[in-house]
Amino acid sequence: MLKHRFFGVQFFGIMLLSLLSLVVNLQAQTASPTLNDSKLDARVNALLRQMTLEEKVGQLVQYSAGSPTGPGTGRGDYPDMIAKGGIGSLFNLTGAREVNAMQKIAVEKSRLHIPLIFGLDVIHGYRTTFPVPLGMSATWNPALVEKAARVAAVEASSEGVRWTFSPMVDIARDARWGRIVEGNGEDTYLGQAMARAYVRGYQGASLQDPSSILACVKHYVAYGAAEGGRDYNTVDISDRSLRQAYLPPFKAAVDSGAATVMSAFDDLQGVPSTANPYTLTQILRGEWGFRGFVVSDWNSVGELIPQGVALDPAMATRKALTAGVDMDMESNSYATTLLQQVKSGQVPQSVVDEAVRRILRVKFAMGLFEHPYSDEAKSPITTLDPEHVAATRAVAEESFVLLKNDAASGAPVLPLSSTVKTIALVGPLADDAANMLGSWSTKGDAKDVITFRKALSDRLEQSQGKLLYAKGTDILSTSDTGFAEAVSAARQADVVIAALGEDAGLMTGEAASRAHLDLPGNQQQLLQALAATGKPVLLIVFSGRPLILNWEAAHIPAILEAWFPGIQAGPALVRTLFGDVNPSGRLTTTFPRAVGQEPLYYNAMNTGRPAGDVDLTRPPNGAGEKYRSRYIDEQSSPLFPFGYGLSYTKFQYSSPSLSAQSLTAASLNSGSSILTVSGEVKNTGSRGGSEVVQLYIRQIGTSVTRPVRELKGFQKISLAPGESKKVEFKLGKDELAFWNIDMKNVVEPAKVTVWIGPNSTEGSAAQFTIN
Ligand code: NOJ
Repeated sequence: MLKHRFFGVQFFGIMLLSLLSLVVNLQAQTASPTLNDSKLDARVNALLRQMTLEEKVGQLVQYSAGSPTGPGTGRGDYPDMIAKGGIGSLFNLTGAREVNAMQKIAVEKSRLHIPLIFGLDVIHGYRTTFPVPLGMSATWNPALVEKAARVAAVEASSEGVRWTFSPMVDIARDARWGRIVEGNGEDTYLGQAMARAYVRGYQGASLQDPSSILACVKHYVAYGAAEGGRDYNTVDISDRSLRQAYLPPFKAAVDSGAATVMSAFDDLQGVPSTANPYTLTQILRGEWGFRGFVVSDWNSVGELIPQGVALDPAMATRKALTAGVDMDMESNSYATTLLQQVKSGQVPQSVVDEAVRRILRVKFAMGLFEHPYSDEAKSPITTLDPEHVAATRAVAEESFVLLKNDAASGAPVLPLSSTVKTIALVGPLADDAANMLGSWSTKGDAKDVITFRKALSDRLEQSQGKLLYAKGTDILSTSDTGFAEAVSAARQADVVIAALGEDAGLMTGEAASRAHLDLPGNQQQLLQALAATGKPVLLIVFSGRPLILNWEAAHIPAILEAWFPGIQAGPALVRTLFGDVNPSGRLTTTFPRAVGQEPLYYNAMNTGRPAGDVDLTRPPNGAGEKYRSRYIDEQSSPLFPFGYGLSYTKFQYSSPSLSAQSLTAASLNSGSSILTVSGEVKNTGSRGGSEVVQLYIRQIGTSVTRPVRELKGFQKISLAPGESKKVEFKLGKDELAFWNIDMKNVVEPAKVTVWIGPNSTEGSAAQFTIN
């Protein structure tokens, strides 16, 4: 479309150059270019040569057209700026018609007709809202997550959005941090698998596909390691930890072709991530060869001033741009100070050119010059595609983690019998549509949600059962006026279901760190009142983080962690509770016993004085018990460990067998040898079910300390009752190398223990040696 404009009368002056770029355009259209395609560079350079300095700066500028998540610029002159070539990207604008109207200004009114990229936080679905990302990670099913991202891309792109600020791949080891909900939990290996899945799903087979949306991997980097779990706080971790734990999911996303990266708000090792040449240039571009562009986080360029490394917006601009931040999201610093600084020689023109090149390269690669507009016939989305709805229900069902299912008096509480007569449903989240959407559901609509109450009542209607509903309390309430009604409903019921948890908007996501991790308000007291009736009580926890559930785990026979499950919350829960679906979610974050244990994560280093289980009811018995790495008032172990989750059936594991007892570090480093670890898993129960078979290793005798356990493989398998399957894992350089004492990522001689098991604390072990 755009190329025809090159022939308009008003462009005779640049006709020759334009014709040239048209030829380049046509050549490039024959194949789907990737960011590494050198043909793109010719087009980029041809266009760059035509640009004024003002137009170059314009490409580096991004504004929000609405719904701010931070202090806005207050500017409203976007159409004028766009017409002057003063904006490279807008975000928070949706709807093909609305987006096209802005795009038209860029394409028709700006001198060089460079289209805008339209972005949005499409975090866990667009209109069809999926479970929150932490819930999606609990599926341990990257293929399913890829599908969810594809659905989001199809819907978002049909409404003019061609860029999402997702996936968030921040490793999060501290449950206090509100943004733990946005990522894949605490583990690097799982985080890498999920990072790849999201990028594949969003970007599809080719960036040029009209349903492809650019991925933006964020928040680069180590934002999740904020001290005290307090959002935006300082991160001071070692380089080894940065490279070992925090960087790999970003690299996995970049290697999968992620077109963009977002620089984070944090101060990393004393240098803010938005002005950090080491991470943005040396590692991202130099070591990894990233060819896309980096956008700042919301006003993170402006925040270099309160962080103390910039005196004013000009200095902030200089630091961010030269460190490697190509596009300034919403701080207005590049727009207002860069031009002058290039003219005065404070910022080299070459730095600006390089940033513009990176942005144009992405615009060309996604075919934006040929197809700048969205198909208005497909927008706005008013109906929910049944396939998309089915996908979100499937993800929700695999995301639930059964934390406890005890035989209170004989049989386990779950699954519920299809003939159960009367159920009392209690709790503030039982009939709450808005909260089911979770945090960051920009375009999610509570009207699309089928609540738990609605789905349960439909189900009981079919079986002539009876549902007694009483809210009992509000999420943050301290009033117990609703308790009596709830208790009376419980007394009349065969089973009581309590739907309790957090407020998704207030208590999870950005700027929602918590110092207390219990059920909020008086929900635990409500639960206690329900339990006191003596009826079997089943607890469903809706949360965006691990909560502290000590009393609950000790007194409630069945607990299901449901996260915030999305628009199919109700049907997915009901199908799970009645056993149409067997829970197969596993924790991707450790559930602590006390806030004081945080940060608590499974793949920690050992100490010289490991705690072991201690008897807290009496003082330590002598120095051997006292001088341990432990708390005097709490166990060191978690309440529920990483990888944990129950099923309605039982799985039995054989001991792992290894293809060799010893290998050499040299052969592993050269890639010429690989160890195969295999094990047999059997479904010994009477129901079919899926198990997440997990492989962990520990290396000792190495030049640096290594974690007590590290996930290095997982497979989700389905087994019919009585069925066995052999599961095989490969351990090669990727799995066995680590950042050693010389800061080289290599395999070292070591003694290695391997476990295959159902979670990070169980499984039987085998050993091999690396010589
Ligand atoms: C701030 C958040 O940190 C980031 O995740 C988000 O993408 C931007 N705002 C844009 O909304």
